[in-house]
Amino acid sequence: MTVPTGGAAQAAPPTISVEGLSHSFTDPQTRKTVHALDDVNLEILPGDFVTVVGPSGCGKTTLLNILAGFIRPSAGKAFVNGRAIERPGADRGVVFQELAILPWRTVYRNIAHGLEIQGVAKPEIDERVNRMTSLVGLEGFEGHYPHQLSGGMRQRVAVARTWVSDPEIILMDEPFAAVDAMTRLTLQEELNDLTVRTGKTVFFITHSVEEAVFLGDRVMALSARPGRIKEEVHVPVPRAERSWERMSHDEALQDTVEHVLSLVRGEAVEPTGQDG
Ligand SMILES: Nc1ncnc2c1ncn2[C@@H]1O[C@H](COP(=O)(O)OP(=O)(O)OP(=O)(O)O)[C@@H](O)[C@H]1O
Ligand SMILES: [Mg+2]
Repeated sequence: MTVPTGGAAQAAPPTISVEGLSHSFTDPQTRKTVHALDDVNLEILPGDFVTVVGPSGCGKTTLLNILAGFIRPSAGKAFVNGRAIERPGADRGVVFQELAILPWRTVYRNIAHGLEIQGVAKPEIDERVNRMTSLVGLEGFEGHYPHQLSGGMRQRVAVARTWVSDPEIILMDEPFAAVDAMTRLTLQEELNDLTVRTGKTVFFITHSVEEAVFLGDRVMALSARPGRIKEEVHVPVPRAERSWERMSHDEALQDTVEHVLSLVRGEAVEPTGQDG
């Protein structure tokens, strides 16, 4: 929270804003087109945790790839801190849908990887990696290789790898999809704590409506492809007060889950074939 130091308080500009964003992919061989996103508008303010749900193939990863600067939209605009997004940048860190950790590197060297590429000095890398391993509960496993870790621990490495570079914005694509239900609850509570403590801005894609409500300040429900924002749902309990214990008996949170479920329930999963 910033406290105005006098005069009229100025509204902080949105960290991310998206205006009239549409995207189509064209198969270079068949010339057939898949219309992935349609007229998406969105604002993410500093420190917001925005979650995204929608049926498979509705364009969630495409939207994340546009925000990350990996692909340019066919129409419309996306901005980060008022600048048009044209390429990836150190201000945005990505945790990918497919677990992106390097099997031949230890936990320590996986987490250190990005800092090594940036040419950060060794003592600073040590300091930052050690702080990160303890933040995500991996102390004692620094020398382990990914195959020597549980699925939940590998997931923590993936999050730590992105977090250690201290990007202002973290874009996460179903980071917990592959872990078992119990581990997932722990990782969700840990991520909630971490983001409440650090005030990071997060854009988080998931297939789980409960996860979206548990983690988000707002849940964006997307329609089936082409993905449009059906509704943005505000979650009525501050993130600092969330726990799974509370989720299980808080009526406002339960009602929110029901409401988001009703929004996504009507949306079919991705139809087979292409659009035209
Ligand atoms: N590089 C590409 N070339 C052609 N079509 C693509 C490409 N990437 C995605 N698509 C198509 O765009 C649509 C949206 O894909 P996207 O990966 O964004 O969906 P998603 O919502 O992330 O799905 P899921 O929940 O299954 O991860 C899909 O129909 C997909 O086949
Ligand atoms: Mg996806």
